[in-house]
Amino acid sequence: MKKSYLATAVEAANLAASEILNAFNQPKNIEYKSRTDLVTDTDREAENIIKSVIHSEFPNHGILAEESGLTEGDKKHLWVIDPLDGTTNFVHGYPSFGISIGLLENNITLIGVVVELPANNIYTAIKNEGAFCNDHKLSVSHISSLEKSLLVTGFGYHHGEKWQANLELFKQLTDKTQGVRRLGAAAIDLCHVAKGVVDGFWEFDLSPWDSAAGVLIVEEAGGKITGMNGSPHSIHDQHILASNGLLHDDILRYTKKVASKLF
Ligand code: IPD
Ligand code: CA
Ligand code: CA
Repeated sequence: MKKSYLATAVEAANLAASEILNAFNQPKNIEYKSRTDLVTDTDREAENIIKSVIHSEFPNHGILAEESGLTEGDKKHLWVIDPLDGTTNFVHGYPSFGISIGLLENNITLIGVVVELPANNIYTAIKNEGAFCNDHKLSVSHISSLEKSLLVTGFGYHHGEKWQANLELFKQLTDKTQGVRRLGAAAIDLCHVAKGVVDGFWEFDLSPWDSAAGVLIVEEAGGKITGMNGSPHSIHDQHILASNGLLHDDILRYTKKVASKLF
């Protein structure tokens, strides 16, 4: 069954990717969820495509999707979908955005698929069966000192105390490492940890659809995931720390200090 779930997720993601790429160089109809949180017609169209592929194969499964919320299902299966992660990048033509589809079975993530656009790299994982990018097996990096590492983080749309705290962390870890990137698409950031092109990623303010697929992809590539305070991570937690495992405790020393003041 796992293979057929994966095939459905890949089919849905590829169809949504075509829709997004066709719209990439066209004028966009933009609405604002808040001053900096953009949504386009393409976000909604991609979501409809993904949902209809999943529902035609698995009509009893539940779906949690960013733009349309929860569609209740059989309680055992829940698809968690970000139809367009990195909408701001998509709108501006900045090349880091994608699609994220995770499937939870009894609250455990079983399948993760992320398409990185416009590059069109497809990342896939099945629990306990490894992670792949375009059919090449993925493995996290072997960097074991912060001084030699490259990290990535993200800043959410709400400019409150967590956002302020992250500016401070950004400063501290930029000083300690070879650099901290900020690309603007959390699902892609997680896949970059899995691929070993960055050694760690943290963010304060994520939603389940940002992280569901990417977390499994990192774990299946040999990486480690916790909350920013070191607690076990659930996709319903907003904060996350992903790493190659070797650097986890070193990064935690920084994130924990900040996290302990906030949660
Ligand atoms: C956002 C991106 C961004 C992250 C935000 C997310 P969206 O998702 O993943 O990198 O910093 O927290 O909300 O709105 O582009 O799907
Ligand atoms: Ca997102
Ligand atoms: Ca989105």
